[in-house]
Amino acid sequence: VVERVPLIAGNWKMNLDHLQAIALVQKLSWSLKDVKHDYGTVEVAVFPPFTDLRSVQTLLAADRLALRLGAQDVSPNAPGAFTGDVAASFLSKLGADYVIVGHSERRQGHGEDDATVAAKARAAAAAGIAPLICVGETAEDRAASGAAAVPLAQLDVALSSLEAGAEFVVAYEPVWAIGSGEPASPEQAQEVIGELRARVRQSHGDDAAARTRLLYGGSVTSQNVAAFLRQPDIDGALVGGASLDADEFSRIVQFKK
Ligand code: G3P
Repeated sequence: VVERVPLIAGNWKMNLDHLQAIALVQKLSWSLKDVKHDYGTVEVAVFPPFTDLRSVQTLLAADRLALRLGAQDVSPNAPGAFTGDVAASFLSKLGADYVIVGHSERRQGHGEDDATVAAKARAAAAAGIAPLICVGETAEDRAASGAAAVPLAQLDVALSSLEAGAEFVVAYEPVWAIGSGEPASPEQAQEVIGELRARVRQSHGDDAAARTRLLYGGSVTSQNVAAFLRQPDIDGALVGGASLDADEFSRIVQFKK
């Protein structure tokens, strides 16, 4: 049986300029100083805006903080004439381990379709960065076709771009639960995430299904995180608002099952 190390990921979204980012990481490092979060127990990653990545990376390296670094988006293209885009190779040079692709705020606000998300996932993987693929249904999708149909369809396209053996993470974020203060119930989340794992098995095989971390995201707090992590297929959390508060985020990281 493969033990999956839980991953707690903080998506800062478009919050915190680089000075505020430095202050948050310093506070986090203080709050986590006594926490033994070696990667064998729990892995913690922060996803700052692009403009903060360099500052945060410098702090993490200097402090030997056991935090991983991720970006919130990536270009599907190699470096070239793409004004405003950021290439995966630039992120990997900055030490990014992960990049979020397909967040619902980009699918909705920037018209990203499944094919674009798949191309971004492929570009990340090619640069040695694990894509953190976000999928999730709106309340309307759920009413029309049930909870799992849209997330499964989104995952299928993203997985089709990733070769056997590629490392990736999946986050199930029901759109109605994001920033609403109304999380899915742990059982609702488990039901969909269980189906997502079955889909990983179909497309990438037993080993990938056993190794791949599947996260829940949507109004996660220190109060509810443990209940999600107790579900058999939920291996961590993608935290938005609550990751901006150092004390709250360090309580989340210290969840006790
Ligand atoms: O990517 C994390 C996210 O969309 C959830 O946000 O604020 O509901 O934790 P929040």
